[in-house]
Formats: sequence, structure tokens, C-alpha cells
Amino acid sequence: MNIKASAPGKLMLFGEHAVVYGYPCIVTTVSPRVYVEVEKTSGQFKIDAPQVKDLRFVEETVKQFCEKYKVDSKILIKTYSDFSSKFGLGSSSAVTVATVVALSKLYEIKISKKEIFDLGYKVILNVQGVGSGFDIATATYGGTIYFVTGGKIIEQLIVKGMHLVIGYSGTKADTSYIVKNLELRIHNSELEHRKIFEKISKIVEEAKISLVNADWKTTGELMNQNHKLLQELGVSTEKLDKMCQVAVNAGAFGAKLSGAGGGDCMISLVSEDKIKKVESSIINICGEVIHVNTNI
Ligand code: PMV
Repeated sequence: MNIKASAPGKLMLFGEHAVVYGYPCIVTTVSPRVYVEVEKTSGQFKIDAPQVKDLRFVEETVKQFCEKYKVDSKILIKTYSDFSSKFGLGSSSAVTVATVVALSKLYEIKISKKEIFDLGYKVILNVQGVGSGFDIATATYGGTIYFVTGGKIIEQLIVKGMHLVIGYSGTKADTSYIVKNLELRIHNSELEHRKIFEKISKIVEEAKISLVNADWKTTGELMNQNHKLLQELGVSTEKLDKMCQVAVNAGAFGAKLSGAGGGDCMISLVSEDKIKKVESSIINICGEVIHVNTNI
């Protein structure tokens, strides 16, 4: 019997990096999904995943699942995706969560969302060595989430009518490297970095309210402030800064990098009538606009 499951990708709205150190963040799901099909086989465990570059997430998920639930791993797994892993939209976390869900269906094991999160987060830590788990939480719970490190708090926020223009910088970010590199720098000046994290945390708390109230002007200003602090952390790039700047100049409420920095995507918050103008401003400086729905 062939069992299917899927999970969505994600976009970090506020609080990246600080969330690795015990502070909150806000993250939302995007419409593209990763799909997983599993079936029992008489032979060895086999993965057929032409779009997944890094098979370690699928392999580690199967290992953890089979150990925890004491089932054998004689399975065939196929995965396919609506989006390229190059954008940093969370294909690794989505494939991890979709694999856990597919396996639980295959073996008819009732598994709660918290259990999916815990298992998925373990996989991320085993494979990457670092991470807050925000991406696993979004893939598991969906929607827009206020999240604290390791899933200490996972709170769903009702956000309606948010329009984001998303720009890809053209460079794939290496999240583990950037997180580990920042950790080294923090080691040398902990107090200074803690101060920045505190400021980011305050922004996240304010954004939690402004997002739910659909107060886009305030939310946009908070995005600009958050981006400035990420620049102070040294994780932005010239291209990301430029893309944020042109988006704001073209009428966006605000803009910031989204995720680890060092490449991947930026997001800008816009009113519906400014979407085209902001998109053109990003394309004009050779950014790639990604069309996805958010808050799914
Ligand atoms: O690069 P992304 O989109 O996976 O985002 C990383 C966000 C960090 O806060 C830097 C790391 C984490 O796991 O929270």
C-alpha cells in the first residue's frame, strides 16, 4: 500500500538568530509543499528523491522513527517538491515532517503534533548540529506561529490580509555555517550580542501584536528595525540590503532579510496596490521574485 503525506515550507518573519539563543521568533508557512510517499518493500530501505540534494534528513528521520516506534525500515520512500531547495524556504524541515507523518500512517501509529515536532527537531539537530526548530514547528502546525527555542512556546497567531513580496538574492545561504560563525563571534563579545538579541526580542513582541491587528505600517517599521539589527549581527549581504532598500523606496511598509542571511531571501510587506511596483524594483536590481502564498 502506498501512503502519502506532505508539509509546507516556511518564511521567517521576525526574530531569526535571536531564536537560537532562547528568544522568540515569528514564522509563517508558504504555499509550496514537499510530498512524501512511502510503501513497505521486501527488500532494503530505498529512497527515490531526485529533487532532494541532502538525503540525510530523510535517512535520519527513518532511523529515528524506526528506533522510537520499534518498526522495521524495509520501506521505499519517494519525495517530490513544489519548490527548489535553493530558495531556503524550508525544504529540509518540510521533508522531515512529511516523512514522519507518512511513516506514522504506514505503520498506523497515532502520533501527536508535539511528538512530530520533537522527532523532527531531533533529526534537524542530529543532521545540522544547530537550529531552534522554528522550521519544524511551522511544517508541523502550519499557519503563522510565535515560537520560542526548541518549542518551549508554539502559539498560533491569526494573521489575515498580509501581503509579502519575496525576493531571492541569487545566492544559496549555508545556514549551519552562518549560525556557527555567529556563535564564535558571540563567544568574543557576549554582552554586545545579548543586547542586540534583547532588542530583536522586543521587536518580535511588538510584531506579534501588530500582525494580529493587521497594522501593516507598524509591522513594516518593525521589519526595518529588525533588518538593521541583523546588519549589526553581520549576517546580511550587500544584495539583501539593496533589495530591502529598493522595496522600501518603491513603497513597501518595510523589508528585511528572512532566515540566516548570507543569501537566500528577503521579504517586504506591502499593500496590495504596491505589489507590482515593489516586485519591479527588486527585478530591476537582478533579484528574483518568488510567488508563493503565505500564512497557509
Ligand atoms: O536560513 P533559514 O531560513 O533556515 O533560517 C535560519 C534561522 C536561524 O534563526 C538563523 C536559525 C534557526 O534555526 O532558528
